[in-house]
Amino acid sequence: MTQPESAFLSVTYVSTSAAPLTQTALEAILSQSRENNGRSGLTGMLAVRGDDFFQVIEGPSAVVRHVLQRLRDDTRHSELRVLVEEEIDYRRFPDWTMRCENLDDYPADSIPGYRASHENESDARRHRILDLLRWFQHRATRALAERGRSATSPS
Ligand SMILES: Cc1cc2nc3c(=O)[nH]c(=O)nc-3n(C[C@H](O)[C@H](O)[C@H](O)COP(=O)(O)O)c2cc1C
Repeated sequence: MTQPESAFLSVTYVSTSAAPLTQTALEAILSQSRENNGRSGLTGMLAVRGDDFFQVIEGPSAVVRHVLQRLRDDTRHSELRVLVEEEIDYRRFPDWTMRCENLDDYPADSIPGYRASHENESDARRHRILDLLRWFQHRATRALAERGRSATSPS
């Protein structure tokens, strides 16, 4: 799929589940997201590690901005912080209305730079966010290479 559309927006954010995240709660979020995204032309990935969410949403700018506002209002998670907002020429997840990655399945040492313990809370969260971002960039680059496509998207 090589659709050179230039009006795509990709937003990457992190947030933390308001309540300890259960499989049922995650499945509810995913089925709602996939249904909505399939209708509105959004694609992306939701990664979960413990109670932290890490999501990439991409699609037409206006649609992405609209869902971001709904996400900010969603009480199932809090501390939503946008890490990256960028225009992209190609979707990174063209085939996924919302791919899900459970980062708990990955041993800590398989995530570049991941450290298991931290001195204090806010530092801990900052590190978790940076680690997730590094992990994601690594995976996204690899996914693009596997698709045999030149890495035209900003990293
Ligand atoms: C972690 C998380 C990720 C979500 N991802 C999406 C998403 O990709 N697309 C979406 O439409 N809603 C997503 N939602 C749900 C929205 O916050 C919101 O509840 C929903 O879009 C409301 O629209 P609806 O009532 O028409 O389904 C997500 C919620 C959470 C907590």
